[in-house]
Amino acid sequence: MSKIVPAEDANIALAAGALRRGELVSFPTETVYGLGGDAANDRAVAAIYAAKGRPSFNPLIVHVPSLAAAMELGAFSDDAQNLARKFWPGPLTLVVKRSRKCPLSLLVSAGMDSVALRIPAHPVARALLTASGLALAGPSANPSGRISPTTAAHVEEGLGDKVAMILDGGPCRIGVESTVLSLLDEKPALLRPGGVSPEEITAAIGKPVEIAAPVGDVEAGLHGPGRLLSHYAPDRPVRLNAMDAEPDEALLAFGPQVPVAKTVLNLSESGDLNEAAANLFAMLRALDRPEVTGIAVMPIPMSGLGIAINDRLARAAAPR
Ligand code: TXA
Ligand code: MG
Repeated sequence: MSKIVPAEDANIALAAGALRRGELVSFPTETVYGLGGDAANDRAVAAIYAAKGRPSFNPLIVHVPSLAAAMELGAFSDDAQNLARKFWPGPLTLVVKRSRKCPLSLLVSAGMDSVALRIPAHPVARALLTASGLALAGPSANPSGRISPTTAAHVEEGLGDKVAMILDGGPCRIGVESTVLSLLDEKPALLRPGGVSPEEITAAIGKPVEIAAPVGDVEAGLHGPGRLLSHYAPDRPVRLNAMDAEPDEALLAFGPQVPVAKTVLNLSESGDLNEAAANLFAMLRALDRPEVTGIAVMPIPMSGLGIAINDRLARAAAPR
């Protein structure tokens, strides 16, 4: 049965309910269709990665209804506020530091201290944000490695069985993803070209825009050496495929059979990889304590989200 429904008020209300229950809904934006989920719900965000089949955790854009909502989630410098006032709603995504009390899932940030935010210009996207009262994580609604969808039919083709519904708002006006601009450093850096040009940004804030090497966008095939995002890495050493823990090591467990250890957190007692992904970053942080000598991690199966989990763990364990 088709999941496509016209983007009328009644269907937007149903979609908002599904999102509040942690389900995924595809919605139109002025750029491309997004695969939306509650950005504060670890399980919903894990379900987005699982649905897309992403081999690694690439941080996701979070859609918000207003600048006030954005400012609760991230730290907005003067430049950030000026750019938001000038280009929002619209195809500009701003990467800023997460606010101190940011309630969003660490998984939307791929474990980092930053978050990518934008207010979409499409009336259906905005109505959905208002009706749900949620910040919505929303990567393009296509399986990883495929072309971004600009119609509801494209979404159905690729992800029809993964979403509660697809709100049909017609073809997308812009058709390419938003510009991603990092404001983490003094100099603004363009991480992905899109609907707003560097010249327009410079005109708005009177600063040159650094054209950064595109960051880890696995979908665009730009995941090359030197272009990786600097991800959160634990201070303590990480030991992979551990079958037990040393006396002062913390254990990050997976599955029902767990060796004895003083400090243990279990990614998923039932061995559910989506649950494990949802817990991964928060548990790594929780175990990264001065009183432990390291973090031993039990083997994680290489299927589904396990591929992304193992990718992230390999980076966390890499020599530095
Ligand atoms: O037009 C768009 O932006 C679409 C529509 C649906 O809004 N969304 C979209 O989302 O393209 P997504 O999640 O696929 O875009 C993620 C891009 C990636 O290139 C990622 O590396 C970058 O944004 N990104 C997200 N969070 C980041 C962060 N904290 N630091 C650096 N880059 C980040
Ligand atoms: Mg994409």
